[in-house]
Amino acid sequence: MISNISSPVKDACKNDSSGHDWWHIYRVVNLAKYIGEKEGANLEIVELAALLHDLDDWKLNESDGSHLPKARKILSENGYSNETIITILGIIDEVSFKGAGVETKPSTLEAMVVQDADRLDAIGAIGIARTFAYGGHKSQPLHDPDLKPNLHASFDEYKKTRTSTINHFYEKLLLLKDRLNTPAAKQLAEKRHQFMKQFLEQFYSEWNIE
Ligand code: NI
Repeated sequence: MISNISSPVKDACKNDSSGHDWWHIYRVVNLAKYIGEKEGANLEIVELAALLHDLDDWKLNESDGSHLPKARKILSENGYSNETIITILGIIDEVSFKGAGVETKPSTLEAMVVQDADRLDAIGAIGIARTFAYGGHKSQPLHDPDLKPNLHASFDEYKKTRTSTINHFYEKLLLLKDRLNTPAAKQLAEKRHQFMKQFLEQFYSEWNIE
């Protein structure tokens, strides 16, 4: 891994308990390199964007994330060209999920690869674990039968709506498999998707005991 970039990132997320810790970044970098290699993407760009993709995330920062100041600073401090910086920031802008009804198709192969890697880490057993960690971080209930899932039509609505962690499966996690960009990622998603469906079935069977 590119160590002059990974060490400040590691430092920035060392106290995270929302599921966006260093090991999330590490897994996304590895997934992105694996998918990127299969799809013939520029692997240096893919790795840099994956390393920096959550540093200015709207879920974790005060600002709306649109100017990506932290990622920009690390890249320029490490001597990357303006052109590379613009490319990386452009990818990071396109990666995040903005709501069930909001189209977020990336415009370059490298952005597709990083988005797919980040989404794969949001599903399956690891995705389930991260989702509950995030729900706790946001003080959300695990499940509330009175709160119905909301298929947000805008990013604003997605950010504002109060929900439960189980609803998050319907509002995001179960939708991700069909929104992946690359064949390599779609193949990896299959087992992870099935596992989440099994998890929900078991969850409800324990909730509704009869
Ligand atoms: Ni991420």
